[in-house]
Amino acid sequence: MTNIGVFDSGLGGLTVLKELIKEKNANYYYLGDSKRAPYGSRSKDEILKFTDEIVEFLEKYDIDQYIIACNTISTIATEYLEEKYQKKFYPITKAGLENASQYEGDFLVLATKATVDSHIYKNGLENEKIEVYEVAAPNLVELIENGKICGDELDENLLNYLEIANKNQIPNIILACTHYPIIKKAIEENLSYEANIINPAENIASKINFKENNKGSINIFMTQVNEKNKMIVDHILDCDYNLELKEI
Ligand code: DGL
Repeated sequence: MTNIGVFDSGLGGLTVLKELIKEKNANYYYLGDSKRAPYGSRSKDEILKFTDEIVEFLEKYDIDQYIIACNTISTIATEYLEEKYQKKFYPITKAGLENASQYEGDFLVLATKATVDSHIYKNGLENEKIEVYEVAAPNLVELIENGKICGDELDENLLNYLEIANKNQIPNIILACTHYPIIKKAIEENLSYEANIINPAENIASKINFKENNKGSINIFMTQVNEKNKMIVDHILDCDYNLELKEI
């Protein structure tokens, strides 16, 4: 059975895992570093160090291929990881760019500070006809990790981050952080018009090359487990899974 490693700074990568398990059988090993999330406002060196610790941990499970289910880590660490571990690491940003390029018109990239600073989506999509706006939304990951996936505090933050979208009626919004699909409904509710909300993880399974006929297992390791994040894991995943607290 193919062993697939999937990882993120916390819960967000589960939105990618969810898309993968819809289409592809495998043994999945997911690590969410919720204890140290958010990563998006940390330094590059710190993000590389934490990512290395995640992959060192997952390597125990004889992983055949990895999915980097975090835009922030994808922008900073993909080449480093491929070189160090000599394995395939598929970055979610690649799927995001491919999905977004199917749409017409301008884009808003809603992301962490690290992803915005990398300009990965802007560089990949902007041309003389298409403008790509970028907004860093540093508070959202922490709110989501703390179970605040609806309510006044989230709405206040979203209204602020979506101001430029509402002002310019930007037709396409890329959820360029894997945590954001969890709050897609709240994002839609804080827009004053109807936008295409692009989830980079959509169709990700079709971009990954492996095939298994039998069902495998879904193993989720989190560096912090509490009632709030357990509730969100359950909210995202509509299948059987094992959830364990792990120190890395
Ligand atoms: N889910 C991560 C991403 O896609 C969030 C990073 C963070 O912890 O700030 O960028």
